Amino acid sequence: MGKFIGLLTSGGDTPGLNAAIRAIGKACINKYDMQIIGFQDGFRGLMENRSVQLTNQTLSGILTLGGTILGTSREKPYKMMIGGKQMDMTDVIVENYHKNHLDCLVCLGGGGTQKNAYHLARHGLNIITLPKTIDNDVAMTDFTFGFDTALGIAVEAIDRLHSTAHSHHRIIVVEIMGHRAGWLALGAGVSGGADVILVPEIPYDINVVAESIMKRSRSGKSFSIVAIAEGALSQEGYKKINEVKEQINSADNKKGRSQLKKQLRALDAEYTGNTVFLAKELEKLTGLESRLTILGHLQRGGSPSAADRLLATRLGTCCADNINAGNYGNMVAIKGNDTVLVPLEEVVGKIKLIPPGHEWLRSAKEVGTCLGDGSKYS
Ligand code: F6P
Repeated sequence: MGKFIGLLTSGGDTPGLNAAIRAIGKACINKYDMQIIGFQDGFRGLMENRSVQLTNQTLSGILTLGGTILGTSREKPYKMMIGGKQMDMTDVIVENYHKNHLDCLVCLGGGGTQKNAYHLARHGLNIITLPKTIDNDVAMTDFTFGFDTALGIAVEAIDRLHSTAHSHHRIIVVEIMGHRAGWLALGAGVSGGADVILVPEIPYDINVVAESIMKRSRSGKSFSIVAIAEGALSQEGYKKINEVKEQINSADNKKGRSQLKKQLRALDAEYTGNTVFLAKELEKLTGLESRLTILGHLQRGGSPSAADRLLATRLGTCCADNINAGNYGNMVAIKGNDTVLVPLEEVVGKIKLIPPGHEWLRSAKEVGTCLGDGSKYS
């Protein structure tokens, strides 16, 4: 009999999670004669010892399903809500790992999950992770599964918004997920031919955006599509937020620092992804009617794309090989055409943002897309 494996999915659900569960499970069972159980609802299920046996039968027919058959949550091992109080449940989790005689725990998730998994690895558990998120912002991997599906949904939305924007001579602002990273908005904006793309990595000037729309209007194009990432910030907001961040860094007492942190949260809520304000303001500045569409969780729902099924299956089978080899404490990542292992300590505490001058940004500019900062070709 081979090893005994536990698996969980954590963080926001993502198309491709079931494809990954299937790949890990089938390869572990059929290639290595291992046994595998799935914990329900992320780290919460591991803490409460709620699990299901994963067999060839339960793993069959799930490749094309959206979401995760195991359920998920955003709970952290060291900060769980227990009876209305936040508690560190690491010890209970470690105990349950051993009670289940696990040789390895596989955690499928985004940046937060990598951090939680690393925390457990530092408490002596054998951990391997896979990178999933529609945001594509996990460090040390070229892509995360879920991103391609969400990209396809956002592009289809932009295509559909084009015909209605065109017919009514309107500005349509479309808000795209991605948390603090702009990959999804940039990728969808370029693929869907958005006229303006606003991402968190490039704070925007609303007057520059309005002027680019007016320029289009003067040239006879009386509609515009503005693709904006939910984490995008105006230059004004960016400046104010950074000023408070600097004050936090130089604050010499705890009370002052906690007040500044409160101020930072308020500014963040006021300025980050304020798409309602943006749509209204663009209407005022351009004289063109404007509408706002927030794509929201639609981007995370439904069946995974072929590319995500392929990526999740490749990462999943590579994961099984590395469980067998005992290569713990790593994330299975994609680099170029290869699946590779990256030590968890190189992944955690980082976020993969769009680097300045990235090829996608250059291409956007070179086809005439406004990025909100007034720059043309870099
Ligand atoms: O990380 C994936 C993501 O969909 C982000 O793009 C978004 O900011 C967040 O999750 C939404 O989280 P929730 O589903 O918990 O509201």
